Amino acid sequence: MKLTRRNFLLGTAIATTSVATSRQNVFGRSGIFRSLASGNPLKIPPVITGGNLTIAAGKSEIFSGVQTDVYTINGSYPAPMIRIKKGEQFSAHITNNLSGDCVLHWHGFHLPAEMDGHPKFAIASGQSADITFPIINRAGTYFYHAHTDMRTAEQVYRGIAGMFIVDDDEDTALPLPKGFYDVPLMISDKHFDDSKQLSYQPNALDLRGGFLGETILVNGTVDPYHSVAPTLYRFRVLNNSNARTYKLALSNDALFTVIGTDGGLIEKPVSVKSCFLAPAERLDILVDFSSYQPGTEITLKSISFSYDGPPSSSSVNEGAVLNILRFDVLGPGTTAAQLPAVLSTIVAYKEADAVRTRQFTLFHSGSMHMINGLSFSMDRIDYTIPFGELEIWEFINNTTEIHPMHIHGLQFQVLDRSSSSVLLTNDLGWKDTVMVAGLDTVRVLVKFDTYDGLFLLHCHNLEHEDHGMMLNILVTKANGVLQEKGSVTQFQISPNPAREITTVYVSELPTPRELIVTTISGVPIFQQTIEAGVRSLALGLKDLSSGEYIVSIDGLTTVLNVIH
Ligand code: C2O
Ligand code: CU
Ligand code: CU
Repeated sequence: MKLTRRNFLLGTAIATTSVATSRQNVFGRSGIFRSLASGNPLKIPPVITGGNLTIAAGKSEIFSGVQTDVYTINGSYPAPMIRIKKGEQFSAHITNNLSGDCVLHWHGFHLPAEMDGHPKFAIASGQSADITFPIINRAGTYFYHAHTDMRTAEQVYRGIAGMFIVDDDEDTALPLPKGFYDVPLMISDKHFDDSKQLSYQPNALDLRGGFLGETILVNGTVDPYHSVAPTLYRFRVLNNSNARTYKLALSNDALFTVIGTDGGLIEKPVSVKSCFLAPAERLDILVDFSSYQPGTEITLKSISFSYDGPPSSSSVNEGAVLNILRFDVLGPGTTAAQLPAVLSTIVAYKEADAVRTRQFTLFHSGSMHMINGLSFSMDRIDYTIPFGELEIWEFINNTTEIHPMHIHGLQFQVLDRSSSSVLLTNDLGWKDTVMVAGLDTVRVLVKFDTYDGLFLLHCHNLEHEDHGMMLNILVTKANGVLQEKGSVTQFQISPNPAREITTVYVSELPTPRELIVTTISGVPIFQQTIEAGVRSLALGLKDLSSGEYIVSIDGLTTVLNVIH
């Protein structure tokens, strides 16, 4: 930071504090620089690299003088922000102190399937689980959140969601705003009752279109403002709302610059006056305040857009104007940051290289939301996806509402959308969630080439997700072993190699079978009956030493590789 008169005056306040807290002192509530108007200073979540993550009910003073019941992680609302470098090992010891099940999912990450936070790995109340995976994703703004069977929407709504930023050398080397000029913004909409408690009681309308609130929280702050110096800022915007899509814009209609999306930097900066952001999408933007006089107020808002979907029970329907965050320009102050002409290189997948197309038709019946007529079933494998093959996935929206479609375990690329001859800004770069607007058809290019195993495909409108709009996808290295929805004659083990746990997927048969695990030399280790009608069986591998084992069912065998 340059020493300016203002900084000098504040010098005693910040001299002994870390960067994270000095932001509060320089630009926050304390000191001589008070807000220009009403509101609350934007909260910045605490930053951790992993370690203990304890999920519990708690309170937050969202409204002055009122304790609102929320869910916290490590006692914090908003949940801590995880920040770690590419190449490091992420490890977390998760303890669930909620009264019911919970599980955390690492949204946007390439990771082993058993670490992904599939709802089948629910952590019971009072229990703990350990998660560890190497960060192989490039730098970007990712996300972690509850993914509990039928309770994702309510748990995320009450606070079990946080940002997860990955840094790498490429991103760090660019002259982009850093330190407290690099600001996380987690946006969600809430409905508060008369006593300022978070009310989550979706009715039939809300279950159709998704639960919308009329009060915006940014990083858990109501009516937020953020004091900025007249210089360049980087904002990492995450739409952490259950169902609401925003069309971000600045109140003075100024341009802002998009530099990244879900999976990190895009190739070149794109200047826009507005940009959509559907639930779970991220947008990395630069806003240049350098031409504004101290005292200027600019508001990040959602501008109106046409929406033909059903109404909600909220007084503020999808597509309505909303204020999100007010920037109060204070001065002087400057960063050395600049806008680079080139940000990164993204090798584009080619449509011609795709080996097959899968269609996923989105529709609903009553309060059930479905993909290809299927609604989620925990133990049913809906699609087996060959590892390492490029595919086109075509999302065909036969409804008038927006479905942000999300795939676990990878980043994909958007190919095209029927509603627009060009890609939208939020379609650019590496993506894990794509906005499928009402009656739109969107094609994406998908290749699982890092991990195999059981992942999920779902709508990130969380009411839709909890009410069926989710499928199990099994990424397999053994092509054609499991057949979809037909008779299955063999079995599949995934993940394989595996560490702590793996799953044996079998065809559903009306008669029981015996599963036998032996050493390579045929020494039996254990045997278990697969009951009639069962389609999968989890195998705990903790007690096996590293090496190869033979798994056999009815005379068919597969080698299982255990690594510790
Ligand atoms: Cu962010 Cu399966 O979710
Ligand atoms: Cu995800
Ligand atoms: Cu949906």
